[in-house]
Amino acid sequence: MQFIGQKLDSVLTDYLKPIEENWQPSDFLPDFSKENFVEEVKLLKESARELPYDYVAVLIGDTITEEALPTYESWLMDVIGVDQVHDPKGWAQWVRAWTAEENRHGDLLNKYLYLSGRVNMRAMEVSTQYLIADGFDIGTGRDPYRNFVYTSFQELATNVSHRRTATLAKQFGNPHLSKICGVIAADEMRHAKAYKSFVSRIFEVDASEMMLALEDMMRKKIVMPAHFLRETGVRMGDTFSHFSDAAQRLGVYTTNDYIEILDSLLDEWQIEHMRDLNEKAEKARDYLLALPARLRRVADRTKVPELSYEFSWIG
Ligand SMILES: [Fe+2]
Ligand SMILES: [Fe+2]
Repeated sequence: MQFIGQKLDSVLTDYLKPIEENWQPSDFLPDFSKENFVEEVKLLKESARELPYDYVAVLIGDTITEEALPTYESWLMDVIGVDQVHDPKGWAQWVRAWTAEENRHGDLLNKYLYLSGRVNMRAMEVSTQYLIADGFDIGTGRDPYRNFVYTSFQELATNVSHRRTATLAKQFGNPHLSKICGVIAADEMRHAKAYKSFVSRIFEVDASEMMLALEDMMRKKIVMPAHFLRETGVRMGDTFSHFSDAAQRLGVYTTNDYIEILDSLLDEWQIEHMRDLNEKAEKARDYLLALPARLRRVADRTKVPELSYEFSWIG
């Protein structure tokens, strides 16, 4: 962590935006201090009226996932090599600055959904509180290698899903919402680039251990950060599978996307050309290279439930 943290100042400027220049949620929302705010809210509500049920459900699930940011920040603060007390200018600074950017996502989506009039806000808020209280179990431990694999994967997954909700919003005649999802997707891509570069640097100095960490994470499968998602009266995690099914039905995030992300990471880190590995790591590399094809065969056989589930979030 010390080695890859050497150029942390340039990492911050390369992958995060200056706060003053960054977009803020209010840039995309009606301004209640203006005379015409009623008109603006009316327009927003009207343009959200025709959004399909599954689409709204996915947007809510995405929002709750973003709103569980306290879980992610506290998790990353606990990773080995991150020390907010003794080294506040080191990795802790990255975690804080990344959190600060991420914080805008849930904020913006939550306000949009509130104004859309399509959501049972209380039910959504209950799910958010549950998810933060339940935490998550992502199989990384406090190991930076595993955590940076996880975040690389996860930022790409959120980029895909926000990008798709942006495209769909446009198709549903809602350019405003499309813009909102689009700016969030762009943030996720920048963050993905940062985390991928951290892993690349680890590969430069500790290739075998990095390879084993990657193999371990992929064997366990990357679980989504909201995998414990639930609603009132629903067991922990049960709502997540319905949310995930809705995302699959809509094509917002699918098994195929999971495989494509894996493919892109293997390519990015040039796993195929990785030499000078110890014996165990060589086996790990070969396992990883064969994995996308294996997952594709399984994906072909799994069916997504067609029947829509009734979420308490949408009344
Ligand atoms: Fe985000
Ligand atoms: Fe993110």
